[in-house]
Amino acid sequence: MRMVDIITSKRNGNELTDDEISFFVKGYTEGEIPDYQVSALMMAIYFRGMNERETLTLTKVMEDSGDKLDLSGINGIKVDKHSTGGVGDKTSLALTPIVSACGVPIAKMSGRGLGHTGGTIDKLESFDGFNVSISTEEFVRNVNEVGISIMGQTADLAPADKKLYALRDVTGTVENMSLIASSIMSKKLAAGADAIVLDVKTGSGAFMKTLEDSRALAEEMVRIGKGAGRKTVALISDMDQPLGNTVGNAIEVREAIETLMGKGPDDFTELVYALATQMLILGEKASGEEEALAMIKEAVSSGRALDRLAAFVKVQGGDPEQVYHPEKLKVSDKTYTVKAENSGYIEHIVCDEVGIACMMLGGGRASKEDVIDLSVGIRLLKKTGDEVAAGDDLAIIYYTDDANLENAANKLRTSYVITDRKTEKGNLIKDLIK
Ligand code: URA
Repeated sequence: MRMVDIITSKRNGNELTDDEISFFVKGYTEGEIPDYQVSALMMAIYFRGMNERETLTLTKVMEDSGDKLDLSGINGIKVDKHSTGGVGDKTSLALTPIVSACGVPIAKMSGRGLGHTGGTIDKLESFDGFNVSISTEEFVRNVNEVGISIMGQTADLAPADKKLYALRDVTGTVENMSLIASSIMSKKLAAGADAIVLDVKTGSGAFMKTLEDSRALAEEMVRIGKGAGRKTVALISDMDQPLGNTVGNAIEVREAIETLMGKGPDDFTELVYALATQMLILGEKASGEEEALAMIKEAVSSGRALDRLAAFVKVQGGDPEQVYHPEKLKVSDKTYTVKAENSGYIEHIVCDEVGIACMMLGGGRASKEDVIDLSVGIRLLKKTGDEVAAGDDLAIIYYTDDANLENAANKLRTSYVITDRKTEKGNLIKDLIK
């Protein structure tokens, strides 16, 4: 088999055989096929696309390219959740304790933030002493002991995807539906859960800006999950403004805890409950949405979900006192208030810009090596649909370094799009793909 023939075949619009897909993925991962040939193939795929079979084969070959987590030592149906990424997305922090408190074991690998979206692992490190670098044995033991564990990606999961994604990133070939879906799902499948709930974002802060594209991506990923023998569903949720009222690290953890105390923002609470509902159904703890919702509300009102978070934080070396007293999580006390420059209604808040403002404060990474300041962040006081008068407070910035403040404040101010017309909030959850 020759790589040039595979490139030519895809360039001419043909389907690749399973053997051809396997050949190029293995050859590239092992360093036998050079970047320039794989770049050419990625561009051919970008323009010509791949059918369902090709996409599933690519996913499985990438899944098989490295370690796979063995979760067989954990009883019950393990349900994982994946978000395609957004600003203010602290969902896992509130969702996993609720679902765990309802009886579904949670064994989750999460990533660090890069660019303007944050990562669960960074946020968890806001708890003093919290350890994300645990062995897989500890990971499994923690789930069996307290019902939940979240660790950083230490195992060599889907290395083929890592290499291909890095190449796509610099060759203008990321934004292809089949390539994105296979990339995400290869890692999820290797992470070992029996069932997967996907949160596919749509809007200005999402990978997919239109509902149509988001739906197509969700459908593709659900097809792959099912094709690989895992129960999979996807929610499509709004990312046309940040989720909840906070963006940052410790400040987002506080908001997730408030949500577990039943005092979270409406939009965030709605999303957490909707995802939890699907996880309870896939985990066979609830037979339908109504039953699931009742279980979720009980887990929150009884305090069991909060206790579950505290037990999880404790077993991973963190301070559970900070769960019961979230004000003890370190959020900078240096604040600056961003005010509206004109009157009107908030049409939307450009998510990426809010994320970048937080990054400018030191709350995110421009490159992998950057160290995050967990104490900085943003609190949004106004959101889409709200009426404002010139001079009203829009948002509070929590900062530590004066040098970063002005640029971040300007970025945040311009992220608010204010119009004369009355605007609507819009639905947070756009669709459910089964
Ligand atoms: N996230 C991934 O992991 N892969 C993609 O291709 C795009 C987003």
